Amino acid sequence: MTPSDVSTALSAQGYLPDDGISTSVFLAMTLERPLLLEGEAGVGKTELAKALSAATGGELIRLQCYEGIDVAQAVYDWDYSRQLLHLRAAEATGESTSMTSDALEAELYGERFMIKRALLRSIETIDGPPPVLLIDEVDRADDEFEAYLLEILSDFQVTVPEVGVFRAERPPLVVLTSNRTRDVHDALKRRCLYHWVEHPDFEREVAIVKLRVPGVEDGLARQVAAAVEALRGLNLYKPPGVAETIDWASALGRLGATQLDEELVANTLGSVLKYREDHQRVDQHGVAAVVKQAFEKGLLHG
Ligand SMILES: Nc1ncnc2c1ncn2[C@@H]1O[C@H](COP(=O)(O)OP(=O)(O)O)[C@@H](O)[C@H]1O
Ligand SMILES: [Mg+2]
Repeated sequence: MTPSDVSTALSAQGYLPDDGISTSVFLAMTLERPLLLEGEAGVGKTELAKALSAATGGELIRLQCYEGIDVAQAVYDWDYSRQLLHLRAAEATGESTSMTSDALEAELYGERFMIKRALLRSIETIDGPPPVLLIDEVDRADDEFEAYLLEILSDFQVTVPEVGVFRAERPPLVVLTSNRTRDVHDALKRRCLYHWVEHPDFEREVAIVKLRVPGVEDGLARQVAAAVEALRGLNLYKPPGVAETIDWASALGRLGATQLDEELVANTLGSVLKYREDHQRVDQHGVAAVVKQAFEKGLLHG
């Protein structure tokens, strides 16, 4: 396997990586290290993990982080209602009277009454390719949880006091993402390979639009990509991501547009910019200037 094989495999799944991404993924796979992807919203971090799972055939196991996420949500929990049912049934059949309370408790806290969450599932032994563990938006979780993640990612092992130790025979392929609302701790970073994901460059974004918006005209795809690039240069509160470029091109396609003009841009800007302040910023800069840039760049490379 080479970085270029990775690129081919991801492209086949509809994800067009740049060399930096292919190389990071290649290294993460060959060195069996978690890959931490940071970057602005909408640059393709989450999608990369999905494409990776599709490409390797490993199950995608996703852990969406949020404030207050804890072990019961991320690793395992006990299925209380099933434990209770089992207990009642044991009482009803008289089975419980023939058991010591320790034995009964051991039965209730056995593996069959566990609810296995993402992190535990990702280290269970399975046939076939290792799963892709996506730990999404890790910057939303709090410090303690991050410390816990570090532990799991160091030895791919979980101890459940009542049951025993779960250990991955082969580690999962781990992708962590962060939108950088806060810094991920150094200790966790040290454990991972790191890649800062940029917005795609112009040609790659054109290619992504053509791939994701079937039937879009080449000229329109180029103009939209160029216009989005111009918008990203305006120091907006929320610069448009690739998803917005795709949405915009689809919207314009639906309207039957084959090229941009001022009126069209003004009327459809809501598929790209979702904050009033950003709309005001574009108005100040002038929609005409954005369209002009879109035309120049769209033609230049055409
Ligand atoms: N390199 C790429 N190739 C194909 N599609 C992409 C690429 N990067 C982003 N996308 C598209 O952009 C959308 C947003 O990407 P996403 O992974 O959700 O962003 P992030 O997780 O970085 O916020 C995806 O659903 C996908 O359609
Ligand atoms: Mg994401």
